[in-house]
Amino acid sequence: MQTQTQPATAKRLPFTPEIEARTAPIYEKLNAQIPLVEWHLFAPEIDAINRLKRERNAIVLAHNYQTPEIYHGVADIVGDSLALAREAADSDADVIVLAGVHFMAETAKLVNPNKIVLMPDMEAGCSLASSITAQDVRDLKAKYPGVPVVTYVNTSADVKAESDICCTSGNVLKVIESLGVPRVLCIPDEYLAHYVATQTKVEILSWKGKCEVHELFTGEDIQTFRDSMDDVVVVAHPECPPDVIRAADFTGSTAEMTAYVRQHRPSNVLLLTECSMSSNIAAELPDVKFVPSCGLCPHMKRITLPKIRRALETMSPVVTVDPAIAARARAAVERMLAVV
Ligand code: 13P
Ligand code: SF4
Repeated sequence: MQTQTQPATAKRLPFTPEIEARTAPIYEKLNAQIPLVEWHLFAPEIDAINRLKRERNAIVLAHNYQTPEIYHGVADIVGDSLALAREAADSDADVIVLAGVHFMAETAKLVNPNKIVLMPDMEAGCSLASSITAQDVRDLKAKYPGVPVVTYVNTSADVKAESDICCTSGNVLKVIESLGVPRVLCIPDEYLAHYVATQTKVEILSWKGKCEVHELFTGEDIQTFRDSMDDVVVVAHPECPPDVIRAADFTGSTAEMTAYVRQHRPSNVLLLTECSMSSNIAAELPDVKFVPSCGLCPHMKRITLPKIRRALETMSPVVTVDPAIAARARAAVERMLAVV
């Protein structure tokens, strides 16, 4: 006899012929990435999530680092942090499920205070977001009075609330140059700040935050690949260390990296970023060979199909932002969205 209620995540859903037929077009895109035995686990989850989305008038926003079964199977919108913030602001769904990390869900809630934003795993954090507190920002403002604070979206709402304007890796240069000032604080990512300083005459002051995934890449890794593969094209995220960016052929946000590969179709490409990016693009570009060298973001990887299904079944966990800070944090995000 069963003595306790099993969570939805514990129950394995059956793979029926009807589900097989309904999900076949998705598997056609993914069969090079996902073995059939795993597909038998994923397909019923995908089918259930897509039904729940219709019932709840919900959409799933998925970051480019989500695994292929989420990215290609249940996401309505995929993209970089900037695209997800924009799409969240434009959406007319009643419910937004954020398949990404906590700061992305919080940003979606800031621009949609009247919508339900669900975060399948509240523990999905970010090393950059945890590198700085609101008090740290107040201390910086006291040390550099009058210098505008440009804050990466990879931060908590409390930190955004202390900031003049937000930015993402996709718009940091435009945001900084839009301010028309000689000096800005660009926090908390030291490497993103270093990268943008190479692109502008504005003086950039920074903080000591790092992405735990991108900080591990080295310029030497790139040289090793170039030595063994003449034609490899190296594409890096601006959260990488400066020597990596100097050695790369192109640097950009995850959406810009994807666009670069789509446009240039290199025979061999090395994406210096989170692992799932390569798998997601590979599913649509079979002629491009993705050289395996990437890092896993443990926070992004907390999001799974069963957790997304459970969020939609139980309509939880719900993302909330303290109203005392939400208005100021929202203003910083909206100023960014007005620039680009
Ligand atoms: P993008 O905005 O480029 O998608 O970056 C988000 C992120 O977390 C990169 O590590
Ligand atoms: Fe944060 Fe880095 Fe993970 Fe992006 S990859 S969510 S910056 S820890």
